[in-house]
Amino acid sequence: MPAPAPDLSHIPAVPGLPLLGNTLQILRDPYAFHTGTRDRLGPLYRVRFLGHEVVAAHGIDAVEMVFLNRDGAFSNARGWEMIAPLFGGGLLLRDGAEHRTHRRMLQPAFRAEVLRRTLRLMSRRIEAEIAHWPVDRPFRFFWAIRQLTRGVAAEAFMGITDRRTSDRLGDAFLAELDATAAPIRTPLPFTRMARGLRARAFLKDHFARLIEERRQGSGHDIFSELCRLRTEDGEWLDAGTLTDHFNFLLFAAFDTSTTSVTAMAEQLALHPEWQEAMAEEVAALKGDLGFEALETMQATERVFREALRLVAPVPFVARGVLRAVEIHGVTIPPGAIVSACPGLVMMDPAIWTSPERFDPDRFAEPRTEDRRHPFAWAPFGGGAHKCLGMHFAMMEVKAFFAAFLPRFRIAARAPAEWRRLPIPRPTDGLRVTLTRDRPFQRRPGRDRSSGLTDHPHRSATRPAGSQQAPVGGD
Ligand code: HEM
Repeated sequence: MPAPAPDLSHIPAVPGLPLLGNTLQILRDPYAFHTGTRDRLGPLYRVRFLGHEVVAAHGIDAVEMVFLNRDGAFSNARGWEMIAPLFGGGLLLRDGAEHRTHRRMLQPAFRAEVLRRTLRLMSRRIEAEIAHWPVDRPFRFFWAIRQLTRGVAAEAFMGITDRRTSDRLGDAFLAELDATAAPIRTPLPFTRMARGLRARAFLKDHFARLIEERRQGSGHDIFSELCRLRTEDGEWLDAGTLTDHFNFLLFAAFDTSTTSVTAMAEQLALHPEWQEAMAEEVAALKGDLGFEALETMQATERVFREALRLVAPVPFVARGVLRAVEIHGVTIPPGAIVSACPGLVMMDPAIWTSPERFDPDRFAEPRTEDRRHPFAWAPFGGGAHKCLGMHFAMMEVKAFFAAFLPRFRIAARAPAEWRRLPIPRPTDGLRVTLTRDRPFQRRPGRDRSSGLTDHPHRSATRPAGSQQAPVGGD
């Protein structure tokens, strides 16, 4: 018997369409929808989204409360129920002691030694993919990078190098992703949800068939690492659990990385002085793309942080309420679903100086705006469910730009429009032009920077020989 729906009549509701509720408005532009509604109704209100009644809770205190979950009042399994048919059994969708046990079990698959080996696989694949990228003509960066991350995921995550297999799995995986935000949640014939569920079954079956071979083999991809994990009792993980975890890991890793690299590329295209700063630190590596060497890429890290602040790959998180909680002075009863928004907190002018502005130095001493509150900058979440792939993501981004910047410069005519859900992407695929790199040159006396940052490299010039002047930014 399903539990009776909680009484939320004391919380203001936003009128919506029959059946769909507010789903379409939220999918179209969630930030505009939520800031507009907050200004009208206050920081707590109800929406209907993807078939669920959800209490939207604004503000940094709500973000802190759901991430830290101090008295165990929140459930992830219940909060992320809307993606459970596709990604059920994944680490994020587990709670309490069971979640802790599974997280401990998975952690060895992300140890430094594994990351080090993955980095080698990844760098090789990135180099091969970008070697064919065209220069001096219009280029849709997002689609190219999505193809690239798909190849990286096939090789580094699944140990698959054969293009046909990787394309088949990639297509199934994209169908699964596509179903996460399908407005029709029932898997009726020909719907996105039906396609997504078929894709999940296909992928799980494909992975299950590989388990035995991977246990015996010596592959260093993430799937092989997972296959060799043992439970606390020293047993192998059963096929159902293992494939659920792997299926979720792909989901967690794939488009989030694509979004991060795209968001960075957009800002670099608009701010050539940062492009030069990053190119300079890549040049200082002198071809050593080892794990430790990547640590030195501090400008890249700042650009990464700033890009994730402006375009949070996971802008909203959801939690089920297990015991009554009070948010903004209102009691939310058990059975409700609460959504908090780290993405909007990262754009809050009460916390960040000119939050709309691209300004990576806000993360550097002495400004360190991110330290104004432990959850001011939280694109990777926090508490027990904090992203397990944070270092992996950072490594992938650095590996990409370490391969990209010695070959190319990137220019864009205008900022892109972003569609933020389910995972952010530029609506036009991010139109840019790539040009060939020329040696980095400084021309004293010519400051091309935006004047917005204190960055030491801000007098860098546009690379000589670029066919098209970067527009915007400065
Ligand atoms: C820039 C890229 C990424 C971002 C912004 C990101 C963000 C997040 C966030 C916000 C959560 C927590 C959600 C919540 O609390 O409801 C999360 C969880 C998770 N992420 Fe990531 N992620 C990224 C990349 C990755 C990668 C590359 C992997 C794997 C290689 C990964 C694996 C996971 C896993 C396993 C969890 C669940 C952790 C748990 O429940 O204990 N993520 N991620």
